[in-house]
Amino acid sequence: MRPRGADSGADSVVEAVPAVLEGFTVESRLEVRLVEREDLLPLHAVDREVFGELAYPYFALRQLFDAHSGEILVARIDGRLCGYSLTMTSRTSDIGWFQGLGVVPGLRGHRIGRRLACDALTLLFEHGIQHVRLAVREENIVATNLYESLGFHRTSKEVDYFGSGENRVLMTCRLTQAIIRSWSAEVSSTPVRTVDVGAVAPDRADAPSTPR
Ligand SMILES: CC(C)(COP(=O)(O)OP(=O)(O)OC[C@H]1O[C@@H](n2cnc3c(N)ncnc32)[C@H](O)[C@@H]1OP(=O)(O)O)[C@@H](O)C(=O)NCCC(=O)NCCS
Repeated sequence: MRPRGADSGADSVVEAVPAVLEGFTVESRLEVRLVEREDLLPLHAVDREVFGELAYPYFALRQLFDAHSGEILVARIDGRLCGYSLTMTSRTSDIGWFQGLGVVPGLRGHRIGRRLACDALTLLFEHGIQHVRLAVREENIVATNLYESLGFHRTSKEVDYFGSGENRVLMTCRLTQAIIRSWSAEVSSTPVRTVDVGAVAPDRADAPSTPR
């Protein structure tokens, strides 16, 4: 059952936007770290803001936290949660899944998604993962561009996966020291800028092993 009170308690992260747009760089105010217990309510709010009806119910998020807290990163600006990434690994495989990535609409285009993805993939590499897979809705050009720019390439396509005419593509990336190094160089040298990001249908990079 969905726990009562799960919808309350999170401040609106979009309040951070005016300060960002008034000349502060996002990078100077951005913190990316592993999720903590206190992040769960704001994380739930952000997940709903990003994924709408596809958002995890609070209890599922809680279970993900219990099982994968070492694989969930949150991005915070001035202490307010504005994005997250989720990866999943198994002890018996060197293949990891990039399961989810989201940034609240008001703060997209500031390279927060890239930073989350780079940090999450670096963490996977540090834990011995050599291959990462993900699935993304074919029409999600922003996410696909991001993943391709990080070295992911398309391996296959599942036609009508999300319904008629709604395909998903599977992508994979081989993690190496060189690729990780190139990301850290890029993250530290890339200037932050403001762009106008159009609406993109959200999706989930759904791996088959989501615990319930
Ligand atoms: C995908 C998502 C996480 C990207 O986050 P973001 O912080 O806006 O992205 P960034 O600013 O870090 O941009 C990273 C890359 O995405 C691509 N991108 C960003 N905005 C884009 C746009 N308007 N058009 C095309 N590509 C774009 C570019 O490749 C960009 O790299 P660049 O800055 O070097 O050009 C964000 O759009 C989001 O939350 N979308 C909804 C949820 C979703 O689709 N998640 C992914 C599937 S699970």
